[in-house]
Amino acid sequence: MRAPTAPDSFASRLIRWQEEHGRHDLPWQGTRDAYRIWLSEIMLQQTRVVTVIPYYRRFLARFPDVGALAAAPLEAVLEAWAGLGYYARARHLHHCAREITARHAGNFPREISQLAGLPGIGRSTAAAIGVFAFGSRAAILDGNVKRVLARHSGIAGFPGSAPVEKKLWQLAESLLPAARLEAYTQGLMDLGAIVCTRADPVCGACPLQVDCAAWRDGRQTELPAARPSRTRPERVSKVLVLTDGCRVLFERRPPAGIWGGLLALPEISEDAAAFARRHGFQLLRAQERPAMRHAFTHFRLTLLPCLCEVDGSARQAGEPGWEWLTPDEIATAALPAPIRRLLRQVGWHDPESFAKQATSLAPASSGEKR
Ligand code: ADE
Ligand code: SF4
Repeated sequence: MRAPTAPDSFASRLIRWQEEHGRHDLPWQGTRDAYRIWLSEIMLQQTRVVTVIPYYRRFLARFPDVGALAAAPLEAVLEAWAGLGYYARARHLHHCAREITARHAGNFPREISQLAGLPGIGRSTAAAIGVFAFGSRAAILDGNVKRVLARHSGIAGFPGSAPVEKKLWQLAESLLPAARLEAYTQGLMDLGAIVCTRADPVCGACPLQVDCAAWRDGRQTELPAARPSRTRPERVSKVLVLTDGCRVLFERRPPAGIWGGLLALPEISEDAAAFARRHGFQLLRAQERPAMRHAFTHFRLTLLPCLCEVDGSARQAGEPGWEWLTPDEIATAALPAPIRRLLRQVGWHDPESFAKQATSLAPASSGEKR
């Protein structure tokens, strides 16, 4: 049989390296089950392997196949996802499972273009699923692969920009071997994660070193180019950490927009006293706490928390979407990362210190505000 690639091509060096030094025992390897492969690829989109592994196992135990996932309520999926972050992935995952059940008779389509049309599956993820589940011949181009290719071929410019990305896709396609796509694809992923890392690539252990442009010119730290800095619009949001001494009030966000479907803190446009009055709470104490900033891709958010304690009878009052959670429930809830950070700063996780902080606040001003 003819060798599938020239002996020392980019692909054959990578494949050989993968066999000897790559990863072979990841929980999503050694299967052709598209559901398992899809799930792993979605989890790995923005999260590292070590973090993903325990989530992946728990998720599969809870939702063993696409039908089980489609039948589950979104809230159960968000709960299983809690802590992985980037919750849009969990919403798309659930939506995608329902599409596959409703429109594809419960089977993942084999065509890359059809896969790429499903919620949460972009061109690179579609290719990875195609390669690992169906033995397709397709190029991946995730963040790690962009870095490897930009360095190896000396491609300048921010890889997230349309023209650079186009060039990288063309390159990725042109480097594909005729066969052994699985080992090749895994090799690209593994090389980016283990050798050609962002901060300090181990060029001495790299099978691509002999013809690497970044190595030749000593430009490893300059490539790939950073995202051009731009000033992002600022948003300020006043939020309440409202407790009755035992629980904290949360509000489920509407499905669209940031934090869609997640529990977050109530956002207020008035002050805490006005909020309490409007909802018939007896406000015992309130104190403004230090601001917390968070950078999203498209804007910066400043959260201005107000810690409030209200009378225990408050919990009977309620609005649709409100949930009162204990510290234990908060620990496992699907919360946006900045909200979790903010709560930690306030001391929610230690009921005693929380109660102490809340009760040691200066009494709320009793003066009427217009
Ligand atoms: N990153 C993205 N997909 C991956 C995979 N299948 N194995 C290891 N790391 C990955
Ligand atoms: Fe990356 Fe260094 Fe290998 Fe070039 S030689 S691909 S910079 S690890």
